[in-house]
Amino acid sequence: MSEIKPYIPENLQHIAIIMDGNGRWAQKRGKKRVMGHKAGMERAREMAEYCGEQGIKILTLFAFSSENWKRPQEEVTFLMDLFATSLKNESKKLHKNKVKLSIIGDKFGFDRRLQKAIDKAEDLTKDNDGLLLQIAANYGGRWDIAQAATKVAKSGIIEITEELLSEELVTAEIVEPDLMIRTGGEQRISNFLLWQTAYSELYFSDALWPDFNSDELQKAIDDFAKRQRRFGQTSEQLD
Ligand code: FPP
Repeated sequence: MSEIKPYIPENLQHIAIIMDGNGRWAQKRGKKRVMGHKAGMERAREMAEYCGEQGIKILTLFAFSSENWKRPQEEVTFLMDLFATSLKNESKKLHKNKVKLSIIGDKFGFDRRLQKAIDKAEDLTKDNDGLLLQIAANYGGRWDIAQAATKVAKSGIIEITEELLSEELVTAEIVEPDLMIRTGGEQRISNFLLWQTAYSELYFSDALWPDFNSDELQKAIDDFAKRQRRFGQTSEQLD
C-alpha cells in the first residue's frame, strides 16, 4: 500500500516556531527542567527532518531569547553546552541532508568557543540548497529592529523606509514566516520575529514542545491550508 503524501500548500515556504513547554514537560515526569531541553532538542531535529523532506524552504526555531539569560545559571549553562554539543554533533548530518544552517541573533553574546562552533557549522553548510534552518539564539525582535535602525542611521539616510529597515534585519532577503507556531499552551509572541510576523498566520498548540511531533506539525500545516491570507485586502478582491 502506498503511503499518502502529506499536503503542503504552495504558499507555505517559511515556518517559524516558538518551542515552549520544555520545563513543564520535564517537571511532569519528576525530572529536572533541563531534561526537557534535551528532549526538546530531539524534537527540533525531527522538525528539521520533516520540513526538509516535505520541501518546506525555511524553518526558524526560537532556541534562546535575549531575555533567557535571566534564567537560573545552571539552566543557561546547560542550554549553552547543549547548543555547542549539538552544533558539533549535528553539522555533518545537516550538511549531508543539504541543510543550510544559520544562527540569527547577537552572536557576540556567546563565549568564544560557541562563536567558533557557530562559524564552523555555518561555513560548512553555507552553499547548501536544501532547507534553510535558522536558529534564533540570543535573539530578540526589538534587538533586531534596533540593530537594523542603527545600520541605516550609520549610512546617513534620514528618510527611513520599511524596505531599508527590512534589508538590515538579520533575516534580510528571506521570505517572511507564513506560519508561526507556538507550543506549550501560551498565546504570546515573546519578542520573537516582531517585524517579520506582521502578516504571519498564527497557530497555538497546547502540546508541550517535546510532545510536538511531526503529526502535530502537519496538523498546524493543515490548519494553515484552510486560512485565507488577505494582506489587508478584502476577500472579494482575492476571489
Ligand atoms: C522554552 O521552554 C524553551 C527554551 C527557552 C529553550 C528551547 C531549546 C530547545 C528546544 C533545545 C535547543 C534547541 C535548539 C534547536 C538549539 P521553557 O523552558 O520556557 O518551558 P516551560 O514554559 O515549560 O518552563
